[in-house]
Amino acid sequence: MNIISKRTAKILSVVFSLISLFALAGPPTYAPADADNLRLSFTAIADTHIDNVFNGTRVPLLAEGLEDMSKAQVKNDALLIAGDLTEGGLQWEYYKLAYALQTRCDADNILPVSGNHDIWGPRLQNGTRLMNYEYNADKYFDFLRNTAGIDTATIYFSREIKGYLFVILNSERLEDDTYLSPAQIGWLDSLLASRAGGGKPVFVSCHHPLASIGDEADDLYAVMKKYDGRLDIFFLTGHYHTPFGSGSIVTDGSVTFVALPCYGKGTASGPGKTGTGYCVEAYDGEVLFRARDFTGGRWLPEYDRAVALTAAG
Ligand SMILES: [Fe+2]
Repeated sequence: MNIISKRTAKILSVVFSLISLFALAGPPTYAPADADNLRLSFTAIADTHIDNVFNGTRVPLLAEGLEDMSKAQVKNDALLIAGDLTEGGLQWEYYKLAYALQTRCDADNILPVSGNHDIWGPRLQNGTRLMNYEYNADKYFDFLRNTAGIDTATIYFSREIKGYLFVILNSERLEDDTYLSPAQIGWLDSLLASRAGGGKPVFVSCHHPLASIGDEADDLYAVMKKYDGRLDIFFLTGHYHTPFGSGSIVTDGSVTFVALPCYGKGTASGPGKTGTGYCVEAYDGEVLFRARDFTGGRWLPEYDRAVALTAAG
């Protein structure tokens, strides 16, 4: 019985591998706006909300979008997922997300942000949280290490990709809002200071927008505004499940706030459609945000936005 099970498992494993190979074959799906001058390209999505429902729809939804991304004419330098990776921070949800990424994502880097759904962990129907912060954060740390190859001592971390800095901010407490310690904000400040005047933008991501960060939101905003005219900062967030619209990308001095749509929950069509996000292309003088319906395999050019760099040198 055991032998049969092992053989069956091996056959299934080979079948799944072949399915993955076939899924990733095929003609290119999309190309950058200006391949000759492209410096960096990454995909930004949020709120995948991978759930624990058997045969649920969110893993296939993500897999379908990842296949679109993986067939891009120019390989993605990174895939950013701005929090609420999972519905309830459960180990099985992380496994399912890992499986989708490991079999479908060909981006050179995976940058997963922790959202309130991830850090809250398992909850009762009435919202009571069953586990403490450390337990839930450990699940995220394991996922970072095993799936994204990121080994970090703190829940906040940075990565340099093709000379561009990515900073991931994460909550340090089990609260409704993101809690950023003075140490985390000071760490961000020192990173931004090291890049000011360098001519390249910095991409900062936190699941919560400023309005859903606690009392320390003012300190965070002040740190980013401190570099006005010297450093272009893009602050990419999820959480509000904001449909594409005129308020999705708002620039304030050298800081540009990017509210990402919800990838895993939404409508079947329209600006709040599931399976959507931005293809982000960095050029010498601007960053181009191209709205895409990854599961529909089409651009949504009415929501595109080119942001001219103010501190490009
Ligand atoms: Fe969410």
